[in-house]
Amino acid sequence: MTEPGDQQDDPPDPGPEDWWLDAVVYQIYPRSFQDSSGDGVGDLPGIVDRLDYLCQTVGVDAIWLSPIYPSPGLDVGYDVADHRRVDPVFGTEADFDRLVAEAHRRGMRLILDLVMNHTSDRSAWFEASRQSRDNPYADWYLWRDPAGFGADGSPLPPNNWVSFFGGPGWTWEPRRGQFYQHTFLAQQPDLNWREPAVEAAQWAMVRGWLDRGVDGFRLDVFNAFLKHPDLPSNPEQPGSTAWTRQVHVHDRDQADFVELLDRFRALVDAEPGRITIGELFDGGPERAAAMTRGQHLVFDWELIAAPWSAGEFRATVERRERLFGPERRPTLVFSNHDQPRQASRFARSAGSDDVDAIAKAAAVLLVGLRGTPFLYYGEELGMVDVEIPPDEIVDPPARIAGPDFPWWNRDQCRTPMPWTGEPGAGFTTGRPWLRIGPDAARRNVAAEAADEGSVLATYRRLLEARRSVLALRRGSYESIDAGEDDVFAWRRVAPGSRAVVAVNFAGVDCRIRLPAGEARRVVAGTHLDPPAPDGDGVVTLRPFEGLILADG
Ligand code: NOJ
Repeated sequence: MTEPGDQQDDPPDPGPEDWWLDAVVYQIYPRSFQDSSGDGVGDLPGIVDRLDYLCQTVGVDAIWLSPIYPSPGLDVGYDVADHRRVDPVFGTEADFDRLVAEAHRRGMRLILDLVMNHTSDRSAWFEASRQSRDNPYADWYLWRDPAGFGADGSPLPPNNWVSFFGGPGWTWEPRRGQFYQHTFLAQQPDLNWREPAVEAAQWAMVRGWLDRGVDGFRLDVFNAFLKHPDLPSNPEQPGSTAWTRQVHVHDRDQADFVELLDRFRALVDAEPGRITIGELFDGGPERAAAMTRGQHLVFDWELIAAPWSAGEFRATVERRERLFGPERRPTLVFSNHDQPRQASRFARSAGSDDVDAIAKAAAVLLVGLRGTPFLYYGEELGMVDVEIPPDEIVDPPARIAGPDFPWWNRDQCRTPMPWTGEPGAGFTTGRPWLRIGPDAARRNVAAEAADEGSVLATYRRLLEARRSVLALRRGSYESIDAGEDDVFAWRRVAPGSRAVVAVNFAGVDCRIRLPAGEARRVVAGTHLDPPAPDGDGVVTLRPFEGLILADG
């Protein structure tokens, strides 16, 4: 039997160190991708079985796995009990090492999701910490005495912080006679990153995964790691929910966080070619830009919330271009495991039921804009949100949603990947952990792979175009006025390579004029027969049509 990290043969060489500059990253929600054991839950051997689909059929370069660690599953894996191990529900340690090797053998990279702001309350660290005020783990979490006692003798929390998942941000532990702080569920206590032993333990864990060949990390809510050392109450402001009624100046975004980030990057940089992506918690593109540097990218959320409007997209992209500047690389994210599926969201916003047409137009945006694209599993099929009946809700905050705590049920975007039109959708031979979408009989990989006009075939063509045109991968960005409000057009320029991209956000034809001297070779688009501009640069885009032209 192999131990974690054992190298069997020479590890496969995954390719050049600057891979991340050209890469498209595919996010896998492991529970929902491919079940190989018949227990209804996706697993690592299932992912290995689908690597050829990812690199050959879709054409992505890297995969990011949502958490795969042992977890009681209260936040469906984002409550980690032991960060150094693989949850047996997903397979063995050897399965993980095989996944890394098989990905590398195909020239693909593997990115893990690190949840270092908090642990599960079932982690050995917290189990020890909560026992007493004087054990080796006593200061590993944010413990505080009560601010006083209420008339009924109940302890009062140390400050006004609330949980992002609803309710107070503090939970009482009678064994210590103290409260502990949690930004999310009470079962997800926040770590005390000001305790040096915590940082040392986290870095040891990170080093362990680097030694096993992991190519990068996505850092869950990384700007919340550090809190104000004195834990003062947040200032209050008018707002519609308990969370928005506070200005979150003390429970995240501390000035000394950059030093912590530097220490983390130094560790990662010891292994060349490793990237990290910080998940910005509740912040705008200014903060994302400020924390982006070199091989450390930062997710920001304006595009994931943008309405389907050429003007809004253009304004959002221009703002982020100004904030990031040409040196810093933004990310392109239209959906993930926390947000509505992009096809559903954009179609709703467009007031159209032509989901496929809008999914293809969104693909042109994702592939053509400047930044590193992150493609959430199933978006390449045009997967839509699946309505989950109340008695099947898994997402914990969705169970306690109410007027002061409105919540989007995230189960809707986490349903199993449909591979075939058969029962179980080729995802499982058992009972799926979450219901499969009702459209799986026709919206599935097998059907779409056989249809040149499908969303999947469109992604494949667009990603091929991205691989063949340098400007699409590395070029600068500049908006183009195509003379039509419903069309968003821009150019990308790299040494020896130019591209022009135009997307019609309207459900009607739009005639545009691209400036003279622009790239003229039609490379790809949403349609199988993309139109070429005439000699004056005039071209008519059909409803929701996207077009990529290039030179070089
Ligand atoms: C952000 C993750 O994306 C989300 O799924 C999770 O619930 C919270 N962090 C808490 O870990």
